[in-house]
Amino acid sequence: MSGFEDIASSRSGPIDASRQHGQLGRKPLRMIVTGRAGQVVSALVEWGRRQDLFDVVPLGRPELDLADPGSIEVAIRSCQPHIIVSAAAYTAVDSAETDEANARAVNQIAPGEIGRVASILDIPVIHLSTDYVFDGTKGSPYGETDPTNPLGVYGRSKLEGEQALAGATDNHVILRTAWVYSPFGRNFLKTMLKVAEARERLSVVDDQVGNPTSAFDIAEGVVAVAKNLLHSRASELRGTFHLAGQGAASWADFAAGIFEASHRFGGPSAQIDRISTVDYPTVAKRPANSRLDTAKLASIHGVQIPDWQSSAQQVVSRCVTHHPNPDMV
Ligand SMILES: NC(=O)c1ccc[n+]([C@@H]2O[C@H](COP(=O)([O-])OP(=O)(O)OC[C@H]3O[C@@H](n4cnc5c(N)ncnc54)[C@H](OP(=O)(O)O)[C@@H]3O)[C@@H](O)[C@H]2O)c1
Repeated sequence: MSGFEDIASSRSGPIDASRQHGQLGRKPLRMIVTGRAGQVVSALVEWGRRQDLFDVVPLGRPELDLADPGSIEVAIRSCQPHIIVSAAAYTAVDSAETDEANARAVNQIAPGEIGRVASILDIPVIHLSTDYVFDGTKGSPYGETDPTNPLGVYGRSKLEGEQALAGATDNHVILRTAWVYSPFGRNFLKTMLKVAEARERLSVVDDQVGNPTSAFDIAEGVVAVAKNLLHSRASELRGTFHLAGQGAASWADFAAGIFEASHRFGGPSAQIDRISTVDYPTVAKRPANSRLDTAKLASIHGVQIPDWQSSAQQVVSRCVTHHPNPDMV
């Protein structure tokens, strides 16, 4: 089944898929998203509830276990999707260093298998990847063609997953994103709010810079790319793109933005002591610079991601206003 043919066969010329599938009463296109409670899958499921163009279906354990390649084809086929969003991953960057076999199974082998199945079904795959494919030594934002050189197991397994997917199907988009936050799951923004409930000061690393990115902005970007892929077979729409919040921040800058917003909404805030990476050793090395240049995604897919401060404010507001205790989110 091909979502492209499904849409394209019914109308010639430029296609407004939302009009065709929503307002004309046609069945929505089925978008499966790997994972269950992850940040990006949760944001996409929430987005799905607000519209009727895509039927957004989370697909995770136990039906789909990415560590078990044998489960992948059966689980995907049973959903009869028009498009696959490969959002699930082994994302525990430090644990990956000592759990390499699992990280590689989920991040490297599974994307190749997803690509193989998508190729048989003749449907596109949008795969999430990471800024950690870079070593962080570049002095400016990374473009899609910059040389990769991951510093740890997580980044290496994600890079090899990109390659496995690309080797299995041309009909793919790899979206490298960074520093993801949301009201869902575990992330830096929620950790900061939680810690600030108990402490007046905290130390935050100030010499790693990146692009904080809201899972809701990723969801919007994924949907825009999905529409384009289902609309056209053009090869320029396919390949690797960077999707990240606009504007750079260190972790300390990000924390400051979170506390500023939280204070405004009546939530917890704390003083920040800006420290260096050497003062906060972690199992896995992180790139000092993982800023991503998103110009290609804007020019080819028309996706403009908002600045990280305004998106972070919305997420903070939601955490603080609707769920005073971030643990409850
Ligand atoms: N988080 C970041 O800061 C960040 C930064 C750059 C790139 N990315 C990439 O962006 C994508 C989305 O990240 P995220 O923040 O949404 O991740 P997340 O919140 O950590 O969620 C990970 C998801 O992967 C699923 N998963 C893990 N192992 C699985 C397995 N064996 N079988 C099936 N599902 C499995 C989890 O399933 P359950 O729901 O069952 O737990 C969960 O839904 C990932 O590809 C990640 O590499 C993330």
